[in-house]
Amino acid sequence: MTKSIDLAASVRSIVDYPKPGIIFRDITTLLGDAVAFRQAVDELVRPYTGLGVDKIAGIEARGFILGGALAHQLSAGFIPIRKKGKLPHETVRIAYSLEYGVDEMEMHVDAVKPGEKVILTDDLIATGGTAEGAVKLLRQQGAEIVSACFVIDLPDLGGRRKLEALGVEVRTLMEFE
Ligand code: PRP
Ligand code: HPA
Repeated sequence: MTKSIDLAASVRSIVDYPKPGIIFRDITTLLGDAVAFRQAVDELVRPYTGLGVDKIAGIEARGFILGGALAHQLSAGFIPIRKKGKLPHETVRIAYSLEYGVDEMEMHVDAVKPGEKVILTDDLIATGGTAEGAVKLLRQQGAEIVSACFVIDLPDLGGRRKLEALGVEVRTLMEFE
């Protein structure tokens, strides 16, 4: 077995981005490191092997990168959850809260069949507003949310608790302040 590396060390922190006072946790450096990317995907996938997951739902934009890899590893389908106005077929839409204000996300109306087992993924959970919207959208269409997984948790912002209050298991690989 190959030795595991410290994945948190491969995440780049950018001070005062996108605005003063914010430290942005940038996973592009993790994704660009072949060893770190493989290890992150392996660690995310491990608890789900053998569960018979039907689909991975990835949140635009960085959730698409992880979600594609997870879907491949778990032999599952992939559902893109996108910002409004991007998907070509008929969609279902939900409003969700951002740190300041609201936005809307969509998925195709036929992306999930009632009873399908779905895992939600994204790069990071902060306030949990984005993931909460995705959970509600998927459940409205009849999905069974098996779990939600993220590379990074920002625990001070409460997203994990928000999802757990909805009855969703949350798995993350690391935490930052
Ligand atoms: C980031 C991140 C999550 C979300 C987390 O995406 O990739 O999707 O914010 O924040 P929350 O838990 O407070 O909702 P962003 O909205 O910046 O969109 P992008 O991926 O298109 O850059
Ligand atoms: N990185 C990426 N997305 C985010 C962050 C971050 O630090 N904070 C809120 N959304």
